[in-house]
Amino acid sequence: MNLPERVKIVEVGPRDGLQNEADIVPAAVKIDLIDRLSGTGLRTIEAGAFVSPKWVPQMADSAEVLAGISRAPDVAYPVLVPNMKGYEAARAAKVAEIAVFGAASETFTQRNINCSITESLARFAPVAEAAARDGIRLRGYVSCVLGCPYEGEVAPAAVAEVSARLFEMGCTEISLGDTIGVGTPAKAQTMLKAVADEVPMERLAVHFHDTYGQALANILACLELGVAIVDSSVAGLGGCPYAKGASGNVASEDVLYMLDGLGIETGVDLGKLCAAGRIFCGHLGREPASKAARALAAKS
Ligand code: HMG
Ligand code: MG
Repeated sequence: MNLPERVKIVEVGPRDGLQNEADIVPAAVKIDLIDRLSGTGLRTIEAGAFVSPKWVPQMADSAEVLAGISRAPDVAYPVLVPNMKGYEAARAAKVAEIAVFGAASETFTQRNINCSITESLARFAPVAEAAARDGIRLRGYVSCVLGCPYEGEVAPAAVAEVSARLFEMGCTEISLGDTIGVGTPAKAQTMLKAVADEVPMERLAVHFHDTYGQALANILACLELGVAIVDSSVAGLGGCPYAKGASGNVASEDVLYMLDGLGIETGVDLGKLCAAGRIFCGHLGREPASKAARALAAKS
């Protein structure tokens, strides 16, 4: 197998995971989770979203969370930003990295951020300009890269098109989101190849939800093509409020167990990661959704 020597894990649990929790998680519990995660060796931890609190109440305390965490100097704590209002809030919270989020499906874009794909890119453009001016790193998400909850199949060309626009705009990293977890490995590779014709592979990240249990297989298929950035969520937290039935992101512990087994370096400690997920799930009153975390706990 042709695999990267090193992979960057982007931990999205405190944002993608928690945005979908039925009960609001107190800011202090989120802060504790993020601080434990920064002690595991993770270097990127998505910490919140500056979106409308009416649309996503779970992220309404993002400023409080960012003010409460103990920021490690070598860890980035990016947040989602949909427009200039979100940008100003993120800047006030002194973040060094933000992410705009679009989609390859018109209907999903409309349901998620209340505008068309073209309008979304027009909203992101001033955010990208401001971020460049202020020295803030910019990531871009593309959702529905392997299927849309409203439109079904999504053409790889549509994913490549939105990715190319985000890259031109100044996104230094483009994360390809299988928002509803419907992808399978060959389809993931076809989509990734189409995007890699437009955006250099080293700028691409993959973001799989595990609804159909395909996430690890899809990740491995993408690693074989040269992707070296993987989004995942501790304890498999997550879903998407605008994608009914989507289950959590692939669990970070499961991704790490696979990468460790493949001899791929990440800098992340599996035992500490499992502990962070377990302590947090204790607050939620449930077991971690990660199979690796459960198996390791049963062994110890
Ligand atoms: P809108 O209603 O079209 O916005 O929402 P608007 O500009 O017309 O403003 C309406 C109200 O929202 C106003 O307040 C604004 O001030 C307020 P009011 O006057 O009614 O009191 N507002 C804001 N408040 C706080 N922060 C802001 C902001 N902007 C406007 N930034 C908007 C448009 C994008 C804001 C809305 O649709 C929204 O917040 N959507 C949330 C979408 C979201 O967070 N989705 C989940 C994340 S995406 C995801 O999970 C996928 C991903 O994981 C990858 C994958 O898996 O595929 C990334
Ligand atoms: Mg997601």
